[in-house]
Amino acid sequence: MTFLSATLDRVKQSPTIAVTTRAAELKAQGRDIIALGAGEPDFDTPDNIKAAAVQAIKDGKTKYTAVDGIAELKQAICAKFKRDNNLTYSPAQVSVGTGGKQVLYNALMATLNPGDEVIIPAPYWVSYPDMVLLGGGTPVFVEAQLEQDYKITAAQLEAAISPKTKWFLFNSPSNPSGAGYSWDELQALTDVLMRHPHVWVMTDDMYEHLAYGAFTFCTPAEVEPALYDRTLTVNGVSKAYAMTGWRIGYAAGPEPLIRAMRKVQSQSTSNPCTISQWAAVEALSGTQEFIAPNNDMFIRRRDLVVDALNDCPGISCPRPQGAFYVYPSIRDCIGKTSAGGTQITDDEAFATALLDETGVAVVFGAAFGLSPHFRISYATSDSALTEACARIKTFCEGLH
Ligand SMILES: Cc1ncc(COP(=O)(O)O)c(C=O)c1O
Repeated sequence: MTFLSATLDRVKQSPTIAVTTRAAELKAQGRDIIALGAGEPDFDTPDNIKAAAVQAIKDGKTKYTAVDGIAELKQAICAKFKRDNNLTYSPAQVSVGTGGKQVLYNALMATLNPGDEVIIPAPYWVSYPDMVLLGGGTPVFVEAQLEQDYKITAAQLEAAISPKTKWFLFNSPSNPSGAGYSWDELQALTDVLMRHPHVWVMTDDMYEHLAYGAFTFCTPAEVEPALYDRTLTVNGVSKAYAMTGWRIGYAAGPEPLIRAMRKVQSQSTSNPCTISQWAAVEALSGTQEFIAPNNDMFIRRRDLVVDALNDCPGISCPRPQGAFYVYPSIRDCIGKTSAGGTQITDDEAFATALLDETGVAVVFGAAFGLSPHFRISYATSDSALTEACARIKTFCEGLH
């Protein structure tokens, strides 16, 4: 009998760990490292949210709560869905968990049976496929290439659907590409789903508020109200409110699904941190005024990085609609050799050589299911981004 669960054989360690570990090692050796891997805003949680948490502690709101969230937070979430997405949910249709990650995990654990398929557009957030595998399901990938602006088409979705499809897992704006689907583009996908009533939609709206320029965020149940009864709308406070460490995410959907998710959570973590829940009430109900200036800053950084990368020989980088990532192609770098003598056989070799030779840490595309690319998180200072892009340019100029 083996000690470790056979289920674990189905999943892999996060492939991003290799780059992160190497970057930490080099830093410890005194090397000048610019880390562009972290998927979190570089600014602090707003003061009004911190104050709400401090007040909660002072008021003794420090005990267990209902498993999937306090009534006040569920109410605030319902109001948020109405205000931002024109979606009407009752508190009984809402589940709060320890980050959007746990909410997605609960939903998959609560619904997947062996053989169930989950359609995942690639490039994807690293955790989706492994969560599906942990739940005994089968991920089905649909590739969205740079030429299609990293967005899948209706025909691709149609072709991926089988009688075994349980979920379509949708993420816009996307981690890692930053691609955001317009209303019309999303409607083309929801039209397909209308023809396949056995397929449910899990939409990860984590980057909703990080939407730039002419791009306006929209979510499947809003675009196609007839999908409301088979949509789980997932969101959280991590990204827009700079609350990654507070660990609050939430979802709304049909009550039987929400009850099943509560069952999973009740036998694992129970309620998310009580104090963080009160902070999230303030995040969702309090002023939203800091979002627009933050987005102006992100737009400036996005443009800085996109322009600089397109100036690097061998790199091609579209300008994304949202989130704080860019996902350039390095197709023209593959097959070359770096100035330091590394053969650039794939995007992992590119990222490793870039780190070793220039000290810039990025995450290679294979981690997100679409190669040859790499991901930069531009949620860091202008000066770090400028310096990193200058080093990337020198690196690319050295390829031969
Ligand atoms: C696309 C996407 N979904 C979900 C999450 C999970 O966020 P959290 O668990 O912090 O709410 C992340 C975090 O990086 C993400 O990028």
